[in-house]
Formats: sequence, C-alpha cells, structure tokens
Amino acid sequence: MKKSLLIALMITALLGVFAVSMVSAADAPGDGLEMKYPADGAKYAPIMFNHSTHAAQKCEDCHHKTAESKDMKCTTCHADTSKEGKKKADGYYQAFHSKAEQSCNGCHKTAKKGPTKCNDCHTKK
Ligand code: HEC
Ligand code: HEC
Ligand code: HEC
Ligand code: HEC
Repeated sequence: MKKSLLIALMITALLGVFAVSMVSAADAPGDGLEMKYPADGAKYAPIMFNHSTHAAQKCEDCHHKTAESKDMKCTTCHADTSKEGKKKADGYYQAFHSKAEQSCNGCHKTAKKGPTKCNDCHTKK
C-alpha cells in the first residue's frame, strides 16, 4: 500500500516536470515578431525576430532575467532611449548591440553565426 502510494507520487512529480518544460517551450511566440523602437524618431524600420531560427538557444540566454521577472519583453526594463542611456547596460541600445552574450550582435559575433553588420539587420524606413 505505502509502496504503491510512493510510486504514484513519483509518477505525478515526473509528469509535473514534463508539463513545466513543455509549457515553456510552447510559450515562444511565432515568427515575424515585430520589434519596434519605443520612441519617436526611429532611423530604421522595425526588426522582425524569429524564435524558430533560435531554437538551439535556451530561453534564458536572451530572456536573462526570467529568474526575477516573468516579463518576456526586453523593453520593460531596457526602456532608456536617451543619448546618455545608449551606453547604459540596461539602456535600450546595449540590449541588442553590446558585446554580451544576451545581445543580438554580441551572440552572433561570438558564435560566428547570424547577421552582424548594421544593414544585415536594419533596413531604412
Ligand atoms: C535568441 C534570443 C531569444 C531566445 C533564445 C528566446 N527568445 Fe523569446 N524573445 C526574444 C526577443 C528579442 C523578443 C522580443 C522582445 C521585445 O519585443 O521586447 C522575445 C519575445 C518573447 C515573447 C513575447 C513577449 C511579448 O509580450 O510580446 C515570449 C512569450 C517569449 N519571447 C518566450 C520565449 C520562450 C518561452 C523561449 C524559449 C523556448 C524564448 N522566448 C527564447 C528573444 C529570444
Ligand atoms: C526585468 C528586467 C530586464 C529584462 C526583462 C531584460 N533585461 Fe537585459 N538587463 C537588465 C539589467 C538590470 C541589466 C544590467 C546588468 C544586469 O543587471 O545584469 C541588463 C543587461 C543586459 C545586457 C548587457 C548589456 C551590456 O552592457 O553588455 C544585455 C545584452 C541585455 N540585458 C539584453 C536583454 C535582452 C535582449 C532582453 C530581452 C530578450 C532583456 N535584456 C531583458 C534588465 C532586464
Ligand atoms: C544567444 C545567441 C543569439 C542571440 C542572443 C541572438 N541570436 Fe540571432 N542567431 C543566432 C545563431 C546561432 C544564428 C544562426 C542560426 C542558424 O544558422 O541556424 C542566428 C541567426 C539569426 C538570423 C538569421 C536567421 C533568421 O531568422 O532570419 C537573424 C535575422 C537573427 N539571428 C536575428 C537576431 C536578432 C534580431 C536578435 C536579437 C533580438 C538575435 N538574433 C539574438 C544566435 C543568437
Ligand atoms: C543582429 C541584428 C542587429 C545588428 C547587426 C545591428 N542592430 Fe541595431 N537594432 C537591432 C534590434 C533588434 C533593435 C531594436 C529594434 C528597433 O528599435 O528597431 C535595434 C535598434 C537600433 C537602433 C534604434 C532604432 C532606430 O530605428 O533608430 C539604432 C539607431 C540601431 N539599432 C543602429 C544600429 C547600427 C548603427 C548598427 C551597426 C553598427 C546596428 N544597429 C546593428 C538589431 C541589430
């Protein structure tokens, strides 16, 4: 009796682990996600980001604050588009261009994969 209860509990726990990982993978939105400059005076057209071509990366590689916040939008924190904010680690510009692994350009340069030139990612409005 006790043994079967233990086994039942173990199975439930295992299923729980599977359910959690499946939910997070399914949570990634479809391709062509529009990333739009959150202020006036954008130089370029919005960037279309694809999760499918980044399936080899872990969610946390980019969504690096998921331990403290469930918010998946970079711009919730990286909101500073001011001239002074351009150099700040939590400013808008650095999130996508810094040398760090979580930034588009940083990761592409280190991995030697993915676009790294301005015009590979950006098109004029
Ligand atoms: C290579 C980097 C990268 C990886 C890996 C990645 N994402 Fe994203 N994700 C982004 C970017 C960039 C955005 C757009 C954020 C923005 O617009 O501020 C985004 C947006 C999202 C959004 C929509 C946020 C919103 O409210 O519009 C969800 C949900 C999400 N990602 C979930 C996931 C999950 C789950 C995984 C792992 C299975 C994952 N992402 C892996 C970069 C990534
Ligand atoms: C909950 C807030 C929050 C969210 C959401 C967030 N960041 Fe960050 N990010 C920060 C903070 C704060 C820093 C400053 C350094 C630190 O605390 O890690 C930072 C630092 C960075 C850096 C390093 C910058 C440097 O100077 O090298 C990059 C790159 C980065 N974030 C990219 C992203 C991307 C891309 C997303 C969305 C996929 C994102 N961040 C979402 C808060 C956040
Ligand atoms: C942690 C690493 C990493 C980060 C961060 C990352 N990428 Fe990539 N990206 C890659 C790799 C690796 C490839 C090559 C995939 C392949 O060839 O299969 C790639 C390919 C691409 C491609 C070509 C494939 C396609 O979808 O058209 C684009 C465009 C791209 N990335 C845009 C971005 C943008 C925009 C961001 C930031 C919002 C970003 N990436 C962040 C690793 C990363
Ligand atoms: C790997 C892709 C990638 C590369 C390479 C890249 N950027 Fe970006 N850039 C982004 C993303 C993602 C955003 C955020 C979305 C947006 O605001 O359009 C952005 C935003 C910007 C913005 C603010 C938005 C605007 O339209 O004014 C400027 C300015 C900018 N980038 C300039 C550059 C310059 C200059 C280079 C070359 C030195 C460069 N970027 C290279 C991905 C890239």
